[in-house]
Amino acid sequence: MQNDTATIGRDLEFAIEKLEANGLVAIPTETVYGLAANALEAEAVVKIFEAKKRPSFDPLIVHIKGTEDLAKYAKVIPDQAGRLAQALWPGPLTIVLPKHSIIPDLTTSGLDSVAIRSPRHSLTRQLLGMLDFPLAAPSANPFGYLSPTRPEHVADQLAGEVDYILDGGPCEVGLESTIISFIDPGKIEMLRAGGYVREEIEEILGTQLSVRTHSSSNPSAPGMLAQHYAPRTPLLIVDADEVPDMNTLRSFGFLEKSKNPKIAYIKLIPTQNPPEWATDAFAWSDDGNLRQAAARLFALLRTLDGQNYDLIVAERVPPRGLGLAINDRLSRAAHQS
Ligand code: TXA
Ligand code: MG
Repeated sequence: MQNDTATIGRDLEFAIEKLEANGLVAIPTETVYGLAANALEAEAVVKIFEAKKRPSFDPLIVHIKGTEDLAKYAKVIPDQAGRLAQALWPGPLTIVLPKHSIIPDLTTSGLDSVAIRSPRHSLTRQLLGMLDFPLAAPSANPFGYLSPTRPEHVADQLAGEVDYILDGGPCEVGLESTIISFIDPGKIEMLRAGGYVREEIEEILGTQLSVRTHSSSNPSAPGMLAQHYAPRTPLLIVDADEVPDMNTLRSFGFLEKSKNPKIAYIKLIPTQNPPEWATDAFAWSDDGNLRQAAARLFALLRTLDGQNYDLIVAERVPPRGLGLAINDRLSRAAHQS
């Protein structure tokens, strides 16, 4: 049953009651808010796909309390997968492993593998500790839109679809988890850049990752679809040292109709000298800190998306550390770059 005014609060007992009745509860994680249901019940999981209008070929991540639960849901756990989970959980790491039959096919969209992660947010960790099933949860946004990093973001877009929103405040990391697949015996693959940087993971594994994040034809992680995480306002991504002039901006075709377009401009660091076409200038961070930039990314785009700009122009950030995941999300959110 749907209710139009989903309640927001911190009532774990109420959240459990809803989840045990196969309902949907939005949960805070350190990365983004998730739209959670009992991962072991197809009847509950189907509601996630309906609420998000998510295609059923896009598999979900199963959230568990910690490594002690891994063997219940994964049939095979290679040593390196176990080592990585030990080192980085709870945290923004998802590992893909052969699935145990207890996980319904709907959760994994028919794949023989399952994506598993142990989130770090304390409220959700308490919740997982009180449940006797794991939670399937994609990001709690309509399919293709920006991921939510505050409880209000979920309420704005999915209020009529969820039974409860567990309020854990703003998300600390702000970017989804890094996804590592152990399915191909010959190599360990990074399917999505995210909250843990590649070098951190390679150091723990003592080996290089192979990176497969740009296949849009056959997305084994549809977070890999070329356009995803997108605002409604046209978004143009540019390099910091190649900021376009007005004629170039017009050549992209987003501004034809408006004589005096309202344009938002986003840099990594606040600027005193924005380009003359910029109506307003914003910054991802106060001083270039990429962690802060990641934490603000989706929330700033979402705020600007609600302010009637004709165009948002955002600069790429330096492509190191978390900058790679930030640029990845920017290019998927972009209408043109
Ligand atoms: O940080 C996160 O991972 C957040 C929070 C809520 O935990 N969740 C999240 O879920 O980003 P979602 O559904 O928006 O993205 C999950 C990605 C999808 O692109 C999906 O295709 C991929 O994980 N995935 C899930 N199961 C998979 C599998 N068995 N093999 C390969 N990719 C898989
Ligand atoms: Mg998502």
